[in-house]
Amino acid sequence: MLTPMHTTQRASSRRLSPLLIALALLLMAGCRNMQQQPKLAAPYDESVLFGRAAREILPEAVPVGFLRDDELLHTGMQNGELATEFPFPITREILETGRSQYNAFCAPCHGYAGYGNGVIVVEGFPMARSFHTEEMRSAPVGRFYRAIAYGVGVMYDYAARVPVDKRWAIVAYIRALQHSQNAAYAELPAEIQAQLAQTGTQTTEAMGS
Ligand code: HEC
Repeated sequence: MLTPMHTTQRASSRRLSPLLIALALLLMAGCRNMQQQPKLAAPYDESVLFGRAAREILPEAVPVGFLRDDELLHTGMQNGELATEFPFPITREILETGRSQYNAFCAPCHGYAGYGNGVIVVEGFPMARSFHTEEMRSAPVGRFYRAIAYGVGVMYDYAARVPVDKRWAIVAYIRALQHSQNAAYAELPAEIQAQLAQTGTQTTEAMGS
């Protein structure tokens, strides 16, 4: 007698399924083995071979994104001398970043205008440096950068709080502060000179030239 097609098919797939289940179980058993392979669980676990589980970091190892190969950018030095130029062009946007960073991190001691008389100084902290002395006006930008990156005297460093590009933005803003207190009349843009002429406040002496 001829068996109808669909009956034979059903019979063969019923025979196949126990095989598939067995195969799946085998695979799952494999997973379990990998989960339970011998390994050290914590970084400081004792290791017979290396002393402890986490290996020492090689002294020359550099984490991704932390290569400090740009002397000017990272140390504020150029060929072993304090840098006299910025590592990147200064834009208005950078100056504005510098202003907010300066006001947050430096003004408490150096004052908003940079005379070294911020609120902390008023409260008794040693007088911070004024940026409006001849010495600081003619100091190379590298000296300001290094004060932020490495600290100076009683002033601690800001390396952990202010990233490299923002340190330079602060330096640029300090330069702007210095100009704001000590610009020669002749250096001013023509329209500002005209404004001053109108209000009658311009004299070379008054502008500190
Ligand atoms: C807690 C107070 C304090 C803060 C905040 C502070 N400074 Fe100072 N800073 C000082 C004092 C005090 C000195 C003088 C250090 C000395 O001569 O012992 C100084 C000195 C300096 C100098 C002179 C370095 C030199 O070579 O003579 C610079 C530049 C400077 N600070 C920049 C900054 C900048 C930029 C910031 C913000 C990122 C800042 N400071 C934040 C207290 C502070």
